[in-house]
Amino acid sequence: MSRVVINNLSVRRGNKLAVDNLSLTLEAGKITALLGPNGAGKSSLVLALAGVLPVEGGTVEIDGQLVSAKAPEVIRAAGLAAVPEGHRVLAGLSVHDNLLAAGFGHKASVAEEAVADVYGIFPELAERKAQKAGSMSGGQQQMLALGQALVARPKFILADEMSLGLSPLIVKRLMGVVVKLAEQGTGILLIEQFTHIALKLADEANVMSRGRLTFSGAPGKLIDEPDILHRAYLAQ
Ligand SMILES: Nc1ncnc2c1ncn2[C@@H]1O[C@H](COP(=O)(O)OP(=O)(O)OP(=O)(O)O)[C@@H](O)[C@H]1O
Ligand SMILES: [Mg+2]
Repeated sequence: MSRVVINNLSVRRGNKLAVDNLSLTLEAGKITALLGPNGAGKSSLVLALAGVLPVEGGTVEIDGQLVSAKAPEVIRAAGLAAVPEGHRVLAGLSVHDNLLAAGFGHKASVAEEAVADVYGIFPELAERKAQKAGSMSGGQQQMLALGQALVARPKFILADEMSLGLSPLIVKRLMGVVVKLAEQGTGILLIEQFTHIALKLADEANVMSRGRLTFSGAPGKLIDEPDILHRAYLAQ
């Protein structure tokens, strides 16, 4: 079974540790929710895991392969793809070119196959292949951002606030895809401002506050004892 093992990871932002000695394991086919207030360090964790932010201390291993402090493309090739906060697509490029651009590192034929698979998952994108990404709705752009991660055929996806600013219908659509991916064996780190959605879908829940995990356990426990979450939000 594939896993990502994060061990005592620290990430510095400015003069403070945004991620402070954090340990967490992601497993294939599991949805791991990560909740916590603004500034808790969730996005910093994602960016460090993806190799975009430098690691101050600790390690990240994917199936025993050390990937911490490696280049983003090496980490992506090792099976970990991030969907960063704020659906960053290349606004001036077509949907198709956005997906092809995300296939870098693959042979052209493999990239085309991976892009075709994304169109299978999101027919909404297939219908808009030639449309400039920046002219699509927020929901369609978020589908494209997730599609860009999927082109890498990742074993693990880090989804950072995918539902931010989107309509409930689109959120439901995106979460449906996330659940399906997990059922097919992809491990998911799900960061969500809508905590009730994340807790409904997740196999395991974690609460982060000031760079540290303050709770790890069954999602049902956070539903039954909302005070645990409230305390984390007040502590920040
Ligand atoms: N570009 C930056 N430069 C310096 N410090 C930053 C930067 N971005 C974030 N920080 C700081 O790092 C800490 C963690 O922020 P981060 O964005 O990782 O939190 P978050 O949990 O993702 O919050 P949110 O829920 O608002 O997305 C905060 O103290 C924040 O002020
Ligand atoms: Mg964030």
